[in-house]
Amino acid sequence: MRDIADLPAVNAWNEWDPLREMVVGSAAGAAFEPAEPGNRPQIRGRAGEPFPAGPKPAEAVARAEEELDGLAALLESQGVTVRRPEALDFSRPLRTPHFEVENQYCAVCPRDVMITLGNEIIEATMSRRARYFEYEPYRKLVYEYWEADSRVSWTVAPKPTMADGMYRRDFWEWPLQERHARMHASEFCITQNEIVFDAADMSRMGRDILVQESMTTNRAGIRWLKRTLEPKGFRVHPVHFPLDYFPSHIDCTFVPLRPGLILTNPDRPLRDDELPMFVNDGWKLIEAPEPVLSNDEMPDYCQSSKWLSMNVLSLSPDKVICEEQEKPLQDLLSSLGFEVLTVPFRNVFEYGGSLHCATWDIRRDGVREDYFP
Ligand code: ARG
Repeated sequence: MRDIADLPAVNAWNEWDPLREMVVGSAAGAAFEPAEPGNRPQIRGRAGEPFPAGPKPAEAVARAEEELDGLAALLESQGVTVRRPEALDFSRPLRTPHFEVENQYCAVCPRDVMITLGNEIIEATMSRRARYFEYEPYRKLVYEYWEADSRVSWTVAPKPTMADGMYRRDFWEWPLQERHARMHASEFCITQNEIVFDAADMSRMGRDILVQESMTTNRAGIRWLKRTLEPKGFRVHPVHFPLDYFPSHIDCTFVPLRPGLILTNPDRPLRDDELPMFVNDGWKLIEAPEPVLSNDEMPDYCQSSKWLSMNVLSLSPDKVICEEQEKPLQDLLSSLGFEVLTVPFRNVFEYGGSLHCATWDIRRDGVREDYFP
């Protein structure tokens, strides 16, 4: 192991190496996600009722901010340097040559936008209009890291137009049977003509990078990642979870915890033909227990599923942070030999994410390893 002083300012090759520096999201300035061709937000249990627009109420922001600050404090108590995004007013409308949207979203989930792949920072294209400029709250930090160390590189993926033609508007109304058929062809609300991906559809395992094809990542996006990353020595593997009809972001579905161990979602098994990579190399896939909250009990404005329960954050290969009330998962992780730290985080759920979504790792010890030789 290299001396930590030698670690580049940006260095993270997987999801589990010992964590040194982390960006924790912020709810400051957050707005409700607007309806748009790539997103149909619904109030839980009250489909059809109009979804609120404009800025989130101050109390909702304060409740989420308190929990995000709590996570930051816990990380700091573990010796991790914590950085926060810049607060912007996301309630402003947006107009580009190709679309208009009534307001933007938030900086709660850096994971969705930004990814560290080794010593390189990549800004994703994003897939939704309201998130088009979501790299902005992180730009000051990116410049700082880029200036701090000449070994750090920075890549911005080509922005798609997000024009009407980039989306399949009827996606949201497909009857179940059609959804099932199209699911198997990996066709969702985005078409294949432009490069589209969210960073959170990726999972890092040393040389090997998994990318989920989803509502937020298309095949052109995966081709761009392959052509960008494979010459640098990575291997990019598209992955699919055919029972998830509304897939978006891999970190509530397939969560690598340490070499040889992946936490899986029992409702969303990996496609059969994609299993051999893991099985042949002796990896264990362990199913997450039933979440404490049912889907109906999730917060009203939360567009994510109960599986936010398994959105854990690794501090090292033997230490993880879990949501405070997810006792069954905490017990499972303890039984697997992890030290489990907990933090309350349910007030962050309405912003679409939990502990992994709300963070972006800048620096972890370690180098690129081949876990699938
Ligand atoms: N689509 C996932 C689910 O509902 C939520 C993913 C959240 N992840 C994230 N990085 N925002 O289960």
